[in-house]
Amino acid sequence: MRVILLGPPGAGKGTQAAGIIDRYHIPHISTGDIFRKNIKEGTELGKKAKEYMDQGLLVPDDLVVAIVEDRLKEEDCKNGFLLDGFPRTVYQAEALDKVLDKMNSVLDKVINVNVDKEILIERAVGRRICKDCGATYHIQFNPPAKADICDKCGSTLYQRADDNEETVTKRIEVYLNETQPLIDYYKGKGTLVTIDGQQPIDKVFQEIIAALGA
Ligand code: AP5
Ligand code: ZN
Repeated sequence: MRVILLGPPGAGKGTQAAGIIDRYHIPHISTGDIFRKNIKEGTELGKKAKEYMDQGLLVPDDLVVAIVEDRLKEEDCKNGFLLDGFPRTVYQAEALDKVLDKMNSVLDKVINVNVDKEILIERAVGRRICKDCGATYHIQFNPPAKADICDKCGSTLYQRADDNEETVTKRIEVYLNETQPLIDYYKGKGTLVTIDGQQPIDKVFQEIIAALGA
């Protein structure tokens, strides 16, 4: 199963990705997570990515494409993968097509999670993430049993540096200009399925599973 999760910041891509990879036993490739890991480890890539991420801007295409290309060549991606947050520009989508072509591989589905702008800001600003296992919560919509403590591993939760209202607003604007055109790109290829992301988390998941089949 080769799947892309498409959608604006805060749509619920990461939340749904957790369930999808569990069910289909495919690796989760989140370019945002890869950059955050590099920032935490203080790598050169992390330093470069941080400059853009802190401003809500996209990391340059060449940098992102090289990382994803390398990752897709790894053994665990042979039978499928879930791309989350990539591609984000038409350039990246075309680059992905070329990589898949070289691998004699094709995409099965592009799941487009649709959510209104006002809700996106509320979701991103209230998001909390576990510093150890990466589980995602929301202070109002999906709170942990104990405030700021992860239900799954007991570690503390933190707020992402780019989850303030100003940066989220910029990220949404960037999404509308740079990423939204991918909806038509994948519609044209017949792989796009749009899901209403404003429903409860479980309901969104059920609809994604129905779209993916099996
Ligand atoms: P990235 O990490 O990809 O962030 P994003 O796309 O902005 O998406 P988010 O992680 O903010 O949201 P999500 O859709 O995963 O929502 P979540 O499930 O957490 O990118 C960050 C930055 O990295 C970019 O700005 C860019 O700089 C750079 N970058 C990354 N990839 C790049 C690329 N390909 N090219 C260039 N630059 C790149 O949910 C949000 C909240 O809502 C949570 O609190 C959750 O609990 C809650 N929630 C989820 N679903 C529901 C629901 N159904 N009902 C109620 N609440 C819900
Ligand atoms: Zn945890």
